[in-house]
Amino acid sequence: MMKVIKFSSTQMNEHAQALKIRRRVFIDEQRVPEAIEIDEHESSCTHFLIYDEDEAVGTARLRVKEPWIKFERIAVLEQTRGKGVGRELVEKMMAHAKVHFPHLMPMMNSQLSAEGFYRKLGWVSEGEIFFEAGIPHVQMVIRTN
Ligand SMILES: CC(C)(COP(=O)(O)OP(=O)(O)OC[C@H]1O[C@@H](n2cnc3c(N)ncnc32)[C@H](O)[C@@H]1OP(=O)(O)O)[C@@H](O)C(=O)NCCC(=O)NCCS
Repeated sequence: MMKVIKFSSTQMNEHAQALKIRRRVFIDEQRVPEAIEIDEHESSCTHFLIYDEDEAVGTARLRVKEPWIKFERIAVLEQTRGKGVGRELVEKMMAHAKVHFPHLMPMMNSQLSAEGFYRKLGWVSEGEIFFEAGIPHVQMVIRTN
């Protein structure tokens, strides 16, 4: 059974679990510098954790960046990938964004290697490929019209 919870960075146990997953995926696995990964927006974001049974296996955050609601730091632990965890997490975030930020446009900077994953969830790519922390990215949005 999978379960998605949302929380703020003041909920220290949940935030520590999210940072542990992001540290493993982005800092250890993908070599993103810590200063870029854990930035000044932590406290203003809505954070999410997904549990598989009782284990936290994925995380992400939503950041208001008018006119966008930006999906960021989407990470699933390596040993849990390919089991629908990422889909469940992003779909719950999309539903949350629709209810709580209906006036903002969903947007993300997707790693090029994950573009196909988001496309399956209805996202489309826009514009040129660019590099962040040495990793190729493309902007993606959800078109509502
Ligand atoms: C990208 C990521 C979040 C996907 O999570 P996941 O739990 O493995 O994905 P799911 O199992 O829910 O996959 C859902 C669907 O997308 C597909 N998919 C998964 N990863 C994919 C990828 N990188 N490219 C294309 N398709 C992908 C799956 O095959 C599945 O397809 P199906 O529904 O037809 O069977 C995960 O691989 C991850 O954390 N990667 C490392 C961190 C990262 O790169 N994050 C993205 C930052 S922008």
